[in-house]
Amino acid sequence: MLNIVILAAGLGKRMQSDLPKVLHRIAGKPMLAHVLDNARQLGPDRIVVVTGHGAERVQAAFEGQNELVFALQSPQHGTGHAVQQALPHLLEGDGEQDVTLVLYGDVPLVQPDTLRGLLEARGQGLALLTENLADPTGYGRIVRNAAGEVVRIVEHKDASDEERAIQEVNTGILAAPTAKLRDWLGRITNDNAQGEYYLTDIVALCVSDAVSVQAAQPGAGWETMGVNSRVQQAELERAWQREQARRLLEAGVTLADPSRFDVRGAIVCGRDVYIDVGCVFEGRVELADGVHVGPHCVLRNAVIGAGTRIEAYTHIDDATVAESAVLGPYARLRPGAEIGSQAHVGNFVEIKKSVLGTGSKVNHLSYIGDADIGARVNVGAGTITCNYDGVNKSRTIIEDDAFIGSDTQLVAPVTVGKGATLGAGTTLTQDAPAGKLTLSRARQTTIEGWQRPQKKG
Ligand code: UD1
Ligand code: CA
Repeated sequence: MLNIVILAAGLGKRMQSDLPKVLHRIAGKPMLAHVLDNARQLGPDRIVVVTGHGAERVQAAFEGQNELVFALQSPQHGTGHAVQQALPHLLEGDGEQDVTLVLYGDVPLVQPDTLRGLLEARGQGLALLTENLADPTGYGRIVRNAAGEVVRIVEHKDASDEERAIQEVNTGILAAPTAKLRDWLGRITNDNAQGEYYLTDIVALCVSDAVSVQAAQPGAGWETMGVNSRVQQAELERAWQREQARRLLEAGVTLADPSRFDVRGAIVCGRDVYIDVGCVFEGRVELADGVHVGPHCVLRNAVIGAGTRIEAYTHIDDATVAESAVLGPYARLRPGAEIGSQAHVGNFVEIKKSVLGTGSKVNHLSYIGDADIGARVNVGAGTITCNYDGVNKSRTIIEDDAFIGSDTQLVAPVTVGKGATLGAGTTLTQDAPAGKLTLSRARQTTIEGWQRPQKKG
């Protein structure tokens, strides 16, 4: 049985925040959600989250994830005491194969491969995830004997000068045989500089029981970076963004500047995709071959077809775009926009819950909502679909090859027939027949002899 215990009771005082620390975000996702997602990839039989400060808010944030078990640690008497609170919930049944992996809620990015490596290194004993740091200040140090075997961990505050010179540190993450872990945690004391029950004290007990202690290292340094302050949060955010950028660069994507690139979700790119500076990708975004994304665009839950160009400052939210379209600069696609191939959506155009057919163009200053627009339609500047009467939403239908003059209002529900033309300035309240010119416009007059008022003096 594989148990995973996630420690998340700490106060996080240095965050200077009312929000519990593990709910602060990295790449748009709460830190604890990262830990849970990575933990689940190992296929555990049980996950226990140890909460304390802000326990109710933490638990509420994961409501509906019924397989999670929450254990309350209140007050907090150290990491050993925290794991003790999880013990009643741990599953056993495979004898020596029963294992418990301890993770931290504020060390969000340890990758599944690193955790698999740790579990493998364990054999049937204890395994610690350790790291060599140029500046090990503050961390527990890994003390080894002359033969190079781990004998114990000493906390920074309890360490001698000689021990403080050790550069191999405890990341805090470990894997232990479950039955033995219960036994060891029953034997630790709080006789130390901080008056706490240290989880790290199980190492010396393990050694005295002649159970093997192994150490494994993370795949990359950023994986074990913890977050105790906003500074560390920002550093980890950038480290993770650089890693996501690196993966895309390796896969052949061009990023104008990998340090000005943010993915808060998942992005999938085809060949020869170009992404300019300052773009933010949220949710799930797919960019097909040859897509060009200009600077400062925001794309959330979007599917973009091959060869489409997205110019600067375009916002796309829950929309799909077919191949070879041109969007922006300053275009806005809202939920339910479906843009056809070779269509153009220009500056200050907002499109919501509408289909824009193949080769159709809405190039300037328009609002298109709840509309079905066919192929090769030209929508003039300043066109507005009046889709809402204050209570109901109604649809506008514009058939293939129609031409909508500038500054037209289409009062829905209304249909413009195939090949119809609407004169500029029309307020369309009834259907416009196919192939004909329809317009609503007061006749133009000129007042003879009219004089502009003159200022006196
Ligand atoms: C711990 C380790 C240290 C290691 C360091 C890595 C111990 C005794 N020390 O030290 O060897 O180098 O992490 O960052 O384990 N927590 C609880 N309940 C508690 C105390 C802590 O849930 O009563 C949680 C915290 O929320 C945090 C994690 O455990 O997620 C680590 O706690 P922290 O106080 O940061 O441990 P350190 O003293 O830094
Ligand atoms: Ca810490």
